[in-house]
Amino acid sequence: MLDSLTILAMAAEAVQRSESLELEREFTIRRPRTTDIPLLAQVERSAAQIYRTADLDSLADGATLDPYILITIANAGYLWVAVNRFDQPIGFLGGNYLSGNFHIIELSVAQDYQGRGIGSALVATMSQQVRQEGYRSITLTTFKDLPWNAPWYAKLGFAEVKVQEMGKEFEKLVESEARHGLDPKRRCVMRMVF
Ligand SMILES: CC(C)(COP(=O)(O)OP(=O)(O)OC[C@H]1O[C@@H](n2cnc3c(N)ncnc32)[C@H](O)[C@@H]1OP(=O)(O)O)[C@@H](O)C(=O)NCCC(=O)NCCS
Repeated sequence: MLDSLTILAMAAEAVQRSESLELEREFTIRRPRTTDIPLLAQVERSAAQIYRTADLDSLADGATLDPYILITIANAGYLWVAVNRFDQPIGFLGGNYLSGNFHIIELSVAQDYQGRGIGSALVATMSQQVRQEGYRSITLTTFKDLPWNAPWYAKLGFAEVKVQEMGKEFEKLVESEARHGLDPKRRCVMRMVF
């Protein structure tokens, strides 16, 4: 039989546990700072570990984005960083102009933070900004068959488009991905039109 003090202590512990879970869910999306840039490789590497579950270890171990690209897109205003309550980067989205579209170059959420709405929130923040700037569509390339790729983007409103429909720049992009070992039969271009 539990005495009342033990029950109170257990209740207090349960409240504390749920409060700390609540805090772990907290995140903010903000503009990048110069000090964030070197930390984003770790975020990208951590995010890419999910590819091991699809036997794509080469992606989990592959190169991360060139910091020069990150700095360039940050300076252009096209890099968004998700941070935890300690202001540490836990996710990011970066893109640039491509043939009239806003094109997502990279979207990554660190492994321990996936599935908490951070990726969707990064896409929503980016969409709002680029739409206000006058962009009418957002594009990306991804794997057709992995649940956290094409089906994930489809839930957010993206749809697959034929690469030929998108023009030369996209054809070159898909060819370059194939040269870097991404099977073109499994890849697709997706687009969201506002
Ligand atoms: C793709 C990625 C950015 C998604 O970010 P995230 O913060 O985990 O996604 P969210 O929490 O916003 O996802 C919300 C929805 O997707 C679902 N989801 C998230 N991860 C999923 C997964 N691995 N498999 C299936 N569904 C998943 C959630 O269940 C949720 O669905 P609901 O709204 O119906 O409940 C993240 O998985 C990642 O960094 N992956 C590695 C890098 C990558 O693949 N980038 C995109 C390449 S183009």
